Amino acid sequence: MSNLTLIRDFARQKLGADKSGHAFDHLERVARTAKYLAQKEGADLFQVQAAAYLHDVIDEKIVANSKEALIEVRDFLRGLDLEATIVDDLLYTIDNMSFAKTLTDQEVKLSLSGQIVQDADWLDAIGAIGITRAIYYGGRHGETIYDPKQPPRENLSYEDYRNLADETIINHFYEKLLKIKDQLNTSAAKNIATHRQNVMLNFLDEFKAEWRAER
Ligand code: ADP
Ligand code: NI
Repeated sequence: MSNLTLIRDFARQKLGADKSGHAFDHLERVARTAKYLAQKEGADLFQVQAAAYLHDVIDEKIVANSKEALIEVRDFLRGLDLEATIVDDLLYTIDNMSFAKTLTDQEVKLSLSGQIVQDADWLDAIGAIGITRAIYYGGRHGETIYDPKQPPRENLSYEDYRNLADETIINHFYEKLLKIKDQLNTSAAKNIATHRQNVMLNFLDEFKAEWRAER
């Protein structure tokens, strides 16, 4: 079996039962988008797909202890026939690429493959799939759908981001999802985001009009 197949199987086994919006279909989409972006941007196809499959295996929302999970991934990767520099880059990428990380003071410098996987992951949070995932996540965490009297929070901190008591599903678009387009690393990803941004803006416009019984 190829290294990528082994990595994919490892991730599937770890996340197969996830119901928080990080199920295996998310990993498959991120891997596919990352491969496409890597072809456009001239990055290593194995490295971006490997990181795509592994990126949520250490997520703090999914595993009890993400430090231990990272060590488990490290030991697994060291058991494969891979150069140490590649393993190190994969581990750094998955440990530092999350949106939540951008809300901390920690300085992060991802490699080109890391930037591509981050873009692919963020693209999966916007557009029609992004709308679906936000509603799914919000429903699962008992968020209010919408409250016109509650304005979106500005300059979200890491703690705010994880504090769902003050969150509404519609505010999540203003607090995070509509901002993603300007935070992407590569121009190939920015091109995809332009259309997805319009899908979200049209959805929000329609949602609010229906809420006010205007349409
Ligand atoms: P990251 O791990 O990159 O910080 P998350 O794992 O928090 O990102 O997000 C996973 C998915 O859940 C994304 O599609 C995201 O938009 C959605 N999500 C995260 N927080 C909320 C929230 N408070 N309300 C609705 N959707 C959310
Ligand atoms: Ni992800």
